[in-house]
Amino acid sequence: MYVYDQHDHAIIKQRVQQFRHQTERFLNGELAEAEFLPLRLQNGLYVQRHAPMLRIAIPYGMLNAQQLRKLADITDNYDKGYAHISTRQNMQLNWPNLEQVPDILAELSEVEMHAVQTSGNCIRNTTTDQFSGIAQDEIEDSRPWCEIIRQWSTFHPEYAFLPRKFKIAVNANTRTDRAAIKFHDIGLQIVKNNDGETGFEVWVGGGLGRTPVIAELINPFLPWQHLLSYLESILRVYNLNGRRDNKYKARIKILVKAMGIDAFRDKVEQVWSRLKDSEITLTQTEVDRIKAHFTEPAYKVFAEPSKQLADQLSLNPAFNTWYEHNVTAHKKTGYAAVTLSLKKLGIAPGDISSDQMRELSDLADKYSFSELRTTHQQNIVLADVEEQQLFNLWQELLPLGLATANIGTLTDMICCPGGDFCALANAKSIPIAEAIQKRFEDMDYVYDLGDLDLNISGCMNACGHHHIGNIGVLGVDKKGEEFYQISLGGNSTSEQAAIGKILGPSFKAEEMPDVIEKIINVYIENRQTEENFFTTVHRIGLDPFKERVYEPKVA
Ligand code: HEM
Ligand code: SF4
Repeated sequence: MYVYDQHDHAIIKQRVQQFRHQTERFLNGELAEAEFLPLRLQNGLYVQRHAPMLRIAIPYGMLNAQQLRKLADITDNYDKGYAHISTRQNMQLNWPNLEQVPDILAELSEVEMHAVQTSGNCIRNTTTDQFSGIAQDEIEDSRPWCEIIRQWSTFHPEYAFLPRKFKIAVNANTRTDRAAIKFHDIGLQIVKNNDGETGFEVWVGGGLGRTPVIAELINPFLPWQHLLSYLESILRVYNLNGRRDNKYKARIKILVKAMGIDAFRDKVEQVWSRLKDSEITLTQTEVDRIKAHFTEPAYKVFAEPSKQLADQLSLNPAFNTWYEHNVTAHKKTGYAAVTLSLKKLGIAPGDISSDQMRELSDLADKYSFSELRTTHQQNIVLADVEEQQLFNLWQELLPLGLATANIGTLTDMICCPGGDFCALANAKSIPIAEAIQKRFEDMDYVYDLGDLDLNISGCMNACGHHHIGNIGVLGVDKKGEEFYQISLGGNSTSEQAAIGKILGPSFKAEEMPDVIEKIINVYIENRQTEENFFTTVHRIGLDPFKERVYEPKVA
């Protein structure tokens, strides 16, 4: 994991001081609301329905136990004892007092954390696969590249006031994409060329929000040395040409669509021809310096998979079920990665309490080299657990409410804070998630449905990624009343990237569990052997679902 050097420490401390001063000036009336706005946004602070919302950066989802302990203390001392994991691997506090935010940032800086560039029109946290570095099917560890991007983009003066926010995601997996790279402003897929050299497939102009767009390929193989000069070239073209007159048309996706990918590429290439071999070119020494932070932990050597585990699995069905859904294969024999579900019935998806954070920090110390990772699906991963310890870990997770065996299933939903917290919401989203989870409490039934993403957003800003859920739920406002629109067939992964199609007129909150159940029933009746929900929807189209969901009610 990356460890701060003296420069990192110094700039983060300076930033805390600077923001303390800005907040004081705002509270004294020396800074107007509009003047304070960009300053607070660049420090992760939104103004919300009940209180400010502070978004804390977790670079590419990496956390250590000490940091999580500090986050637990912060949520107790300055908030209401819980926090929320976001879809871009960050953590959000929903109830801090503005006056205390500088103190929170000061405490965060003690453990090498901050909220810099988590909001505002700048380059945001780079996200990646939660299993990077340990996945069996990855080309190489994506985290050093994310860290290189972090160091380049943090406080980059040229990109502090972009037309709009800018998000980058990196994927290194050959078989899947857990970072949704085609729905980012820039998506980077790590690839190797025929000579075995590392490079990047570069995708540009993807995004969600009110205009969902799948990114387009701008460069099929960018040699690694040129990563930063090429990113810089894209950013420059966007910064100069992106629209600033209309915030709804200001994202790079709109610019790429308006220009066409070929014209956009030409402009990028023009800029790149000047930057390509400049001092920003990455050297092996620099990459090695960063890679040195991501060396393997002190793994034990196991000659074969754990026999003890095999026995425990056969003797204990509940453990076996959890293992099947929440444990992922590891590149090291005798190790596994564990996903802890933050989607227990009755808890808002992605929420974690301070007590859970503290206990989890201890478990990370005990079982996983003191490291944790947050996921784009709003869960937490312990990435390096010995197989022979999985049973003990599972037993310790049970009383903490962190052993729900539902990863990848219908009840492992992505959900934004919605109307309960967010001032922009058209409708509540958390109670809808809960009502659907309640309807599908029978886990054997849920397991039979296989992999299924259900994503909920409380408004068209799409924080809950509803467009790319296999089932998407969007809160809409109809004459002051809360309604929900459904879309089917979305997919976040690079190889099957798709934006869901709207089913038809929206529904009332109380109708939602029935509607989802009807949709599921159509799938069950039509699926072919081993066919998942997404594939069935694309094979049979929307009509059978429409017929069932909108069928006239029998009197
Ligand atoms: C509660 C306070 C929140 C506010 C006020 C807020 C505000 C917004 C706004 C205004 C947008 C649209 C910007 C644009 O695309 O032009 C947006 C998009 C987004 N937000 Fe939030 N958000 C909040 C919470 C969250 C949470 C909790 C998550 C994660 C669970 C999240 C993740 C995202 C994502 C992933 C997008 C999509 C951006 C894209 O790719 O187009 N936000 N948010
Ligand atoms: S999708 Fe809308 S309601 Fe949900 S958090 Fe984002 S802005 Fe708020």
